[in-house]
Amino acid sequence: MKKLNWPLMKNNISREDLDAVIKFLKARDDLILTQGKNVREFEKLWSEWLGVKYSVLVNSGSSANLLSILAIREMYGLGEIIVPSLTWVSDIASVIQCGFKPVFVDINPRTLGMDNELVLKKITPRTKAVFLTHILGYNALSQKLLDELRARKIPLVEDVCESYGATFKGRKLGTFGLISNFSFYYAHHMSTIEGGMISTNDSNIYEMVRMFRAHGMVREAGSASLKASYQKKYPDLNPDFIFAYPAYNMRPTEISAVIGLSQLKRLDGNNKVRSKNLEIFLQNLDSNMYQTEFETEGSCNYAFVLILRQPNPLFAEKVMKVLRAYGVEFRRGTSGGGNQLRQPYLRKIVGDREYKKYPNVEHIHFYGFYIGNYPTLETKKIYELCDILNNLKK
Ligand SMILES: Cc1ncc(COP(=O)(O)O)c(C=O)c1O
Repeated sequence: MKKLNWPLMKNNISREDLDAVIKFLKARDDLILTQGKNVREFEKLWSEWLGVKYSVLVNSGSSANLLSILAIREMYGLGEIIVPSLTWVSDIASVIQCGFKPVFVDINPRTLGMDNELVLKKITPRTKAVFLTHILGYNALSQKLLDELRARKIPLVEDVCESYGATFKGRKLGTFGLISNFSFYYAHHMSTIEGGMISTNDSNIYEMVRMFRAHGMVREAGSASLKASYQKKYPDLNPDFIFAYPAYNMRPTEISAVIGLSQLKRLDGNNKVRSKNLEIFLQNLDSNMYQTEFETEGSCNYAFVLILRQPNPLFAEKVMKVLRAYGVEFRRGTSGGGNQLRQPYLRKIVGDREYKKYPNVEHIHFYGFYIGNYPTLETKKIYELCDILNNLKK
């Protein structure tokens, strides 16, 4: 048996990126390396790439989640936030940590994102935001959801950590919500070692998040008039040390920004390869055995989602065994491990039976797998893997 040697991600920080770091480090002595010029430049180019006015680089995608929900609390007050049952832990943790009640919604199997009709059903007068995750490259938005949220004045936060470059109606995901989040963890479309981005068109949110990122300090805001207004109101305080919010230190380093700037140049090209790979994967899987009907328009992932058509535990074991045997790294339950409501941190809050109410995510939990899709993945390996999977006996 010839192994496929197929990790979840490969070469996501390239020689070129490291050379850019070395060049930067060698350029002069006495480097400080904390957030500075390169961070600002990366934020600017990222905003241009995405098509928004403002972006704030932080030290992880989870930090981006937390600071975004903090901004929602600051602007709209406490209440409920509608969240998916399939997402990364920090999407739910941020909601809980900020004092909101998470209200869960099952997924649409064709997008893996929240079922938009169910989202609308869960809206109450207490709803303060919808925090939606675009799962592994698939757009989770519909025009109806966007229209309804706008009509009801409910802010949308988009988690695009797994889907950047993907579009809805030709427009990039992350430009529809009031705030959007991105992760630059190694396994994602781009990596800055660790890192995350918060993007928005709202200048108030932008200023707030800049302060949240650095201890709530007013001097970290961009607006001179905002700083002046605090100084006028608090003349007893040293202007260098005015803390507007009880916040965090989630600053990035210059090294992350230098890598990000180098990576951004390759992002669109890499994403084209990834989309082509997905097409090959879905076209060659046996649709009697595996789900192949996804809403792929505008999709852009860094991992294939393999979903068994039938809830067959023995067949799932066979699939996992063969993936291991061929050296294909995978994650059962997809990236967040499946149904978040089964996790101990949530059972303490919602009880031990709540997870049963979300049948679509339950299927993914046991019969959904994620497999790497990186730009240097050889096409012939995708055909080989599809053959191997298609020849498995149920
Ligand atoms: C949807 C989603 N949101 C947030 C995160 C958190 O990002 P990070 O790992 O950079 O903290 C991840 C995962 O890595 C994710 O997949």
